[in-house]
Amino acid sequence: MIEVVTYRAHQFDGVRELWEEAFPDDPPWNRAEAAIPAKLAIQPDLFLVAVQGERVVGSVMAGYDGHRGWLYAAAVLKGHQRKGVASRLVAEAERRLRALGCEKVNLQVRAANQQVVGFYCGLGYQVEERISMGRRL
Ligand SMILES: CC(C)(COP(=O)(O)OP(=O)(O)OC[C@H]1O[C@@H](n2cnc3c(N)ncnc32)[C@H](O)[C@@H]1OP(=O)(O)O)[C@@H](O)C(=O)NCCC(=O)NCCS
Repeated sequence: MIEVVTYRAHQFDGVRELWEEAFPDDPPWNRAEAAIPAKLAIQPDLFLVAVQGERVVGSVMAGYDGHRGWLYAAAVLKGHQRKGVASRLVAEAERRLRALGCEKVNLQVRAANQQVVGFYCGLGYQVEERISMGRRL
């Protein structure tokens, strides 16, 4: 049985291994050692993991800034994909965002990652014509 729960400290290694498999090319600032403590400092209830027993099989992060909600880094272990795990993670993140008053959720997908576009379209997300910009502070 797979459960979706709030991340807890003993799941660190499981999430790190999941992210290494799911996001092998990510920059250092996205790695578990940096991103998890930062997320735990702000809205830790919006960091969710899918677990099968003690094993982490999926995760997603969300955030609400008072204007928009954001989803980040949905990931499921390859051996557990296509069983609805990410859909459940996103549904629970959306539920928690709504409970905070959030009415609109945004997310970014790397242009090369077309499969993920299909995944989110299936959940009711639409591709919006925007130019995504960012800057490291
Ligand atoms: C994207 C990802 C999180 C989906 O996880 P998942 O648990 O397999 O997703 P679900 O089982 O909930 O998929 C629901 C539906 O989305 C679609 N979908 C999911 N993965 C898909 C894929 N690789 N190709 C095409 N459609 C896909 C399907 O319609 C699927 O329903 P179906 O299995 O009944 O056909 C997973 O593939 C993953 O971890 N990818 C690598 C990390 C990544 O790129 N994350 C996105 C960062 S923005």
